[in-house]
Order: sequence, then C-alpha cells, then structure tokens
Amino acid sequence: MAEQHPNSEILGIDLSPIQPSWGPPNCRFIVEDVELDWSYGGQKFDFIHSRGMIACIMDYNRMYRQAFDHLVPGGWIEVQEFETRMQSNAPCEGSKRKHIDEWLRYLDEATVSVGRPLTVAGEQRQHLIDVGFEDVAEDIYPIPFGTWPKDPKFKELGRFQLAQMLQAVDSLSPAVFSRILHWDTERVRELTSGVKRELMDRSLNLYCNIHFVYGRKPGI
Ligand SMILES: C[S@@+](CC[C@H](N)C(=O)[O-])C[C@H]1O[C@@H](n2cnc3c(N)ncnc32)[C@H](O)[C@@H]1O
Repeated sequence: MAEQHPNSEILGIDLSPIQPSWGPPNCRFIVEDVELDWSYGGQKFDFIHSRGMIACIMDYNRMYRQAFDHLVPGGWIEVQEFETRMQSNAPCEGSKRKHIDEWLRYLDEATVSVGRPLTVAGEQRQHLIDVGFEDVAEDIYPIPFGTWPKDPKFKELGRFQLAQMLQAVDSLSPAVFSRILHWDTERVRELTSGVKRELMDRSLNLYCNIHFVYGRKPGI
C-alpha cells in the first residue's frame, strides 16, 4: 500500500511489534491496543484497513465506531477476515480430517468462552452497517490450502496460505489450549501435529472463504 501510494502516510498498529523494520519510509508501525480509546492526536484517516482480527476483539461495534469517528467524511474502511470453517472440495471421509475438525471445534468453544469468538467473518458486514457506514459491500473468495488446485493462480495462493497456516497452527494453539482449555503440552502437540499432517494432505482439497467487507463514511 505504501509503495503503491508514495504520497500517502501509512500508520500500522498491532499489540505486538511483529512487523519487519525495513519498509518504505512512508509506512510506520506503532504498538497500540485497538480495544482501548483511540486518540491519534485527533488525526483523521482517509482509509482504515483491518485484517485477521478474529478471536482478538470483544466488541466489534465499538472498534468500528472508533474507526468511523477517525475517518474523514467520505473515507473508506476495509475489513478482511477468514472463515475458519475449512471445506473440502473433494469427497472426503470425516476420519481423514478428524484432527482439523476437532481442532476447530475446540478453538470455537474456547474463544467463545472468553468472549473473543473465532467464527465471526460473516458478521463483519452487519457491524459496519450498524455503526453507520454506507455502500457496505462484501466480496467472498475461496482460498485453498496447498497446491492442489489446477489453476496456477489458485495454486500459488494455496502455497502461501498453507505456509502461513502451518505456522498459525503452532502460534495460535498453545495459548488457547493450555490457558483456556487447560490441556497439557503433549496433548496439544499431538493434536496440532495431526492438524498439520491433514493440512498437507493434497487429497482433501481443503479451502476456506475469505471475506472482504468495505464501506464508506457518509459526508460527501
Ligand atoms: C492474525 S494476526 C493478523 C496480523 C496482521 N493484521 C495481518 O493481517 O497480517 C492478529 C494480530 O492482531 C494483533 N492484535 C490482537 N489483539 C489486538 C488489539 N486489541 N489491538 C491491536 N492488535 C491486536 C495480534 O498481536 C496479531 O498480530
């Protein structure tokens, strides 16, 4: 975004300083909690983008209301979220993906129990409407896990998606399964190993949907 719009100033926020330090000079990151009151020195933005926040937020309406207030009139918001439900584009016995199904079931149960649910991609459009955005639209695209699709574009997408998912299984699971569900380390490792093995099984033709939701603050 910063490279494509060199005259813009891009501010990225995250609770953790996970971003690389190299990058275009018009892009900077700060550590900030989006669930707290936003200030930014009264600054207003032309565009606010949020991605991958499922299971992080308790009150989406509050977060989007703050985004609304921090946009210039006519400014846009875009939210990108994955559906966590993994689908199989092939006949598939349940037993071949039993670890994935179990993992998702427990993740759902745990994240709901602490008030930060995981399965909320499909709800974001309504939240944007509820806080007053106009022209709210939602595009939903499938994204494969792995290189099973024949189409070269989807094959490449799947390669990236599988790589990030194999890392996500290990970064997401320990805290949820040990701190919320009180599993011991060995039990978590057994489940996550099974999940990663199944994710790499090309015969399952796994994919999920990603939602791109966007809307405009009224005013011009
Ligand atoms: C799945 S990652 C997505 C990262 C990045 N947005 C992206 O799309 O590549 C979720 C990120 O949300 C951050 N996060 C969780 N709760 C947050 C909060 N209350 N305020 C700001 N960032 C938060 C986490 O630190 C984590 O880096």
